[in-house]
Amino acid sequence: MKLSTALTRAISIALLSLSKNVAGDQIPAPSPDPVLAPKTFGVLLFRAFEPLDIYGPLEALSLLASETKLDLHFLAETLDPVTTRPLMPSMNPFNSSFFVEINPTHTLDNAPDLDVLIVPGGLGTRSPYLNNTLDWIAETYPKLQYLITICTGSSLVAQTGILDGRRATTNKAAYVVETAKSPNVDWVPRARWVVDGNIWTSSGVSAGIDATLAFIEEIYGAENATSIANFMEYERHTDPSWDPFADIWDVPGA
Ligand SMILES: *[C@@H]1O[C@H](CO)[C@@H](O)[C@H](O)[C@H]1NC(C)=O
Ligand SMILES: *[C@@H]1O[C@H](CO)[C@@H](O)[C@H](O)[C@H]1NC(C)=O
Ligand SMILES: *[C@@H]1O[C@H](CO)[C@@H](O)[C@H](O)[C@H]1NC(C)=O
Repeated sequence: MKLSTALTRAISIALLSLSKNVAGDQIPAPSPDPVLAPKTFGVLLFRAFEPLDIYGPLEALSLLASETKLDLHFLAETLDPVTTRPLMPSMNPFNSSFFVEINPTHTLDNAPDLDVLIVPGGLGTRSPYLNNTLDWIAETYPKLQYLITICTGSSLVAQTGILDGRRATTNKAAYVVETAKSPNVDWVPRARWVVDGNIWTSSGVSAGIDATLAFIEEIYGAENATSIANFMEYERHTDPSWDPFADIWDVPGA
């Protein structure tokens, strides 16, 4: 979180508790504060990302952007279009022949200041060539208000050590393999999404939509989250412990 944001928030919390003492009654929950609400979102791109991990959350955020001004940036190591096509056939176990590309707006070296970083998952998180990206995540995290990961994006972030000692979840079909790489994380085996401090991690692929809508509800209010979900004709799961996929994929400890 930016220092100025942290200060503003601390002051408003102090004022709120002060007025509560003076008035002696319960103060209603504050309405979303346009000053504190994040405005600048960045999506990290790397080869062989999972498409819906990005497009699902962006659908909800693009609708939110009609309520409040948001900036969106796509960040990658270079400005070359980033494809979902795996680097090596061995990283393409589903033998897919259908790929999409996204054009980055900035390189990591030239990234604008972000309030929120979104890290998608996908088979590309297993690439051995992401060391620069991992270093950038580690440098960038302390400057963020929020970090949101979708699917195995949490496994990628976990490789930086940021998630050590924190509660987090990941894709349930890949749970055993992905969690074994970062044993110091307090992995949650049954969760649609998990919030620990300012880090939101979500389960496989479509879970990113529920996590993003829950994030929108938390920051921008329930009315925004509900109207966005209704516009998307999306039936939300609002219980973060709803997770039938923990059973379907035999997640140990679930
Ligand atoms: C993968 O797809 C290609 C092209 O469709 C096909 O020729 C090949 O046999 C497939 N390989 C496997 C292992 O299914
Ligand atoms: C990435 O970093 C790891 C750990 O420091 C190292 O073992 C690995 O060789 C590096 N990979 C590349 C491709 O440089
Ligand atoms: C939606 O969020 C925006 C930005 O925080 C806010 O200005 C607006 O009041 C919210 N709408 C509702 C209905 O809560």
